[in-house]
Amino acid sequence: MDATDLGFAHRFVPAPPSTDRQEQNDPAVPTLLLLHGTGGDEDDLLPLGRALLPGAALLSPRGKVLEGGMPRFFRRLAEGVFDEEDLIRRTDELATFVARAAGVYGFDPARVIAAGYSNGANIAASLLLLHPRVLAGAALFHAMVPLEPPERPDLTGRPVFIAAGRVDPIIPPAGTERLAALLRASGAGVTLHWERNGHALIPAEVAAAGEWLNRTLVRPA
Ligand code: MLT
Repeated sequence: MDATDLGFAHRFVPAPPSTDRQEQNDPAVPTLLLLHGTGGDEDDLLPLGRALLPGAALLSPRGKVLEGGMPRFFRRLAEGVFDEEDLIRRTDELATFVARAAGVYGFDPARVIAAGYSNGANIAASLLLLHPRVLAGAALFHAMVPLEPPERPDLTGRPVFIAAGRVDPIIPPAGTERLAALLRASGAGVTLHWERNGHALIPAEVAAAGEWLNRTLVRPA
């Protein structure tokens, strides 16, 4: 299998061969799975990935669903109302993509951390709930509960950072709290970070997530 067989248009950027600790293709280096928002593509979040974890490899797929020409990771019936059957199928596809990409690019599938925004954060949350072993952790920017999983996943030892806006018109604070509670009840360690913003991703959230990632998920030297 090669990169053209992975089923998603995507970018893979290896970890920079820079610091003493992090050699290129060092399996200890985490890989950030970057998941864009509605209307984004595989290039969108590469700068975010670099800002969050400069030493990480980056894997960035493009969502395969088109809504008015805008890529998304799964279908929705209306704003915040998801096509659950499609969501489950697309989440399965994404889990398979990550596993196959690990083989093709030689990164450690046990050290994949999602960083997703909006629609991308929602499918990252869906991955945590339906395929709890795919991600070692996740930074979710402006996510909501994507679906109620048929059974409670075991997310013990998988930290999750959620950045949310107090005045997000798409995700009211109660929606964020519901996601945090669901993940906590599944065993994940959840850090909730609030700003007084709306749905847009702002630098303060990126800075807080980067600090959290480095503190929580990067293996000490
Ligand atoms: C979006 O526009 O992406 C929504 O806010 C979230 C979603 O539909 O998944």
